[in-house]
Amino acid sequence: MKRSVPELMTAAEPLVMVTAYDYPGGIHAERGGADLILVGDSLGNVVLGYDSTAPVTLNDMIHHARAVRRGARDTFLVVDLPFGTYHTGVTDAMRAAVRVIQETGADAVKMEGATPEVLDVVRVLTRNGIPVMGHVGLMPQTATAQGGLKVQGKDEESARRTVEGAQALQDAGAFAVVLEAIPARLARLITERLTVPTIGIGAGVHCKGQVLVYHDLLGLYEGEEKKLAKRYAELGRDAREAIAAYAAEVRAGRFPTKDQSFVMKDDVLGKLY
Ligand code: KIV
Repeated sequence: MKRSVPELMTAAEPLVMVTAYDYPGGIHAERGGADLILVGDSLGNVVLGYDSTAPVTLNDMIHHARAVRRGARDTFLVVDLPFGTYHTGVTDAMRAAVRVIQETGADAVKMEGATPEVLDVVRVLTRNGIPVMGHVGLMPQTATAQGGLKVQGKDEESARRTVEGAQALQDAGAFAVVLEAIPARLARLITERLTVPTIGIGAGVHCKGQVLVYHDLLGLYEGEEKKLAKRYAELGRDAREAIAAYAAEVRAGRFPTKDQSFVMKDDVLGKLY
């Protein structure tokens, strides 16, 4: 059953959010019981193979969010506004958000940062009925300016900026705030101060909810585990082994067998010879 914004904001249980980027991902997330699905612009890294989220376009997000929605019709769907779509003024941001809501069936949009410009956008969108999820801490869209993909909020200035940013997003109307890659104690302080839910990724256990990237959670890439994620499966290894087994059987003439083959009547075949 899809939760409403007020239900998510007042939920007693921890909120579970997972990213998804396509139809099967939407099905898995919904049937797995996620409270919220995020079509994150991490799409750029984990699906499209870019080095960063910066090249992801609004059309990319809409294309993938539509597919997720077809797989998850009954789950609260949040879609990231990609880099550049909410940085050129509130009119452009409103236009981008309206496209996302109208064309994908999303319930909310998410954007990164708490600059005065972003806060203006949050105010205008929420005043016009578009729920907004904020995002502070590590912000991949502007990671270069943050000194790379690094934990934020470790020194006083960065910690203060993160706390004030989260508070300002709430005050501007955000219904929830993602806290990415910040110390657990700082996330706890923010969570205690805010009345809207915090959703953490690499932000410790005290956040109101947690989010993981689909590919990290399922181990779709082999190799080193990211510090902020936990693998609950090894689907990358399983996929590689399955394809290798298929290749070996084809090369040995063991696939397909009778089970995967179709039959026809002898007399029909006879007429062809
Ligand atoms: O793009 C994304 O997947 C995100 C999550 C990591 C919160 O923003």
